[in-house]
Amino acid sequence: MFFHGTSRVNGKGHLEIGGVDTVELANLYGTPLFVYDVALIRERAKDFKQAFADEGVQAQVAYASKAFSCIAMFQLAEELGLSLDVVSGGELYTAQQAGVSMERIHFHGNNKSRAEIEMAVEAGIGCFVVDNFYELDLLADICEQKRATANILLRITPGVEAHTHDYISTGQEDSKFGFDLVSGQATLAVKKALAVDSIRLLGVHSHIGSQIFETTGFVMAVEKIFEHLVSWREDHGFEPSVLNLGGGFGIRYIEGDTPRPVGDYVKEMIRAVKQQIAEHEMSMPEIWIEPGRSLVGDAGTTLYTIGSRKEIPNVRHYLSVDGGMSDNLRPALYQAEYEGALANRVNEQPVGMFSVAGKCCESGDMLIWDLPLPEANHEDILAVFCTGAYGYSMANNYNRIPRPPVVFVEDGDAQLVIQRERYEDLVRLDMPLVKKVKV
Ligand code: LLP
Repeated sequence: MFFHGTSRVNGKGHLEIGGVDTVELANLYGTPLFVYDVALIRERAKDFKQAFADEGVQAQVAYASKAFSCIAMFQLAEELGLSLDVVSGGELYTAQQAGVSMERIHFHGNNKSRAEIEMAVEAGIGCFVVDNFYELDLLADICEQKRATANILLRITPGVEAHTHDYISTGQEDSKFGFDLVSGQATLAVKKALAVDSIRLLGVHSHIGSQIFETTGFVMAVEKIFEHLVSWREDHGFEPSVLNLGGGFGIRYIEGDTPRPVGDYVKEMIRAVKQQIAEHEMSMPEIWIEPGRSLVGDAGTTLYTIGSRKEIPNVRHYLSVDGGMSDNLRPALYQAEYEGALANRVNEQPVGMFSVAGKCCESGDMLIWDLPLPEANHEDILAVFCTGAYGYSMANNYNRIPRPPVVFVEDGDAQLVIQRERYEDLVRLDMPLVKKVKV
């Protein structure tokens, strides 16, 4: 079994995270429960920032908040000196409620609405990552109306396909995101952006995918971008002051996943950029990155209580837990794999394979196939590791299952940062049937 961050087995044979006994957490807050190892998030943020400092490069490390967003997480990100990547009015609103500095917000998204752009312009956010021509026009229009100026990066698709699950590769040409480099769209966007007084074009943005282990894709993206930067300098006198190379750095979910230390990705990217600027006699831009998963993914653990057990002789042992695809969509959506252990009996030897089923009304609601476990049964607490990214943030109310609470643990203390959803919350927006209204 592989332990992440501060996870260890305590004297009672229980899983401990951040100096806190997870069995006690399960008793105190109930299950399912997300537990975040804050020290591990701090360590990752420090490692990213240190890698830039070691290379003497001006940088911003923006937390891609889609991975896990809530007020406390945004406040932690601010405390750690991270900028924030948001992709919707809802994430921006959460950032406002968290009181984070608006100039550190980068606003992404391939279909920002007028209302969202107005909200962001009024808030004075640091930068828009403009995705398409419609948005460019909308932003110019809104800035003119509000007599405001906006910093922008143009999101370009460099035509690099990351070796990852199809649904989460975004750097290839045929993508809903960004301006395509190859067809000339990106060049036209540069020209248009430079012509608008209220828009300050800082540079370009590229994100090639997610859960990437190799550094090659990032290096290739840099090379492709520079091919175009050279002609943009010649033809339009434009040199970027910022290059945002996105996120996507992989983490270890299961044995066999082989991510690099986070600093390696940064160093390889910087090496590639430095090589290009030397070759083309350009000045070094600021480098921005936006990791999500690699900041919070393995810091998260989900605790479940095992309920029913079904044995199909010579076929399979199913253990059902009190959550499932309602709090972790990733196995159903991406066939994502996880490791787990009994939090209340971590040291016991496995006796066989158990498949962990969720409680939703879908045969596909399976969290883990064939997990080696000791003789497991109802009332045991199952810990599923590495659920910190795109777990809670993609949680849903399928089957009207309330979303779990989230606790942060560190140095022996636990803090509830998101409460458990109650049945009352589930019907809060419902309107009882009265009589038909003519519209
Ligand atoms: N920047 C941009 C523009 C992105 O689209 C994303 C992720 C990130 C940064 C952060 O990527 P990360 O470092 O977290 O890999 N729901 C999927 C992942 C979707 C990723 C969406 N974009 C999953 O659970 O695997």
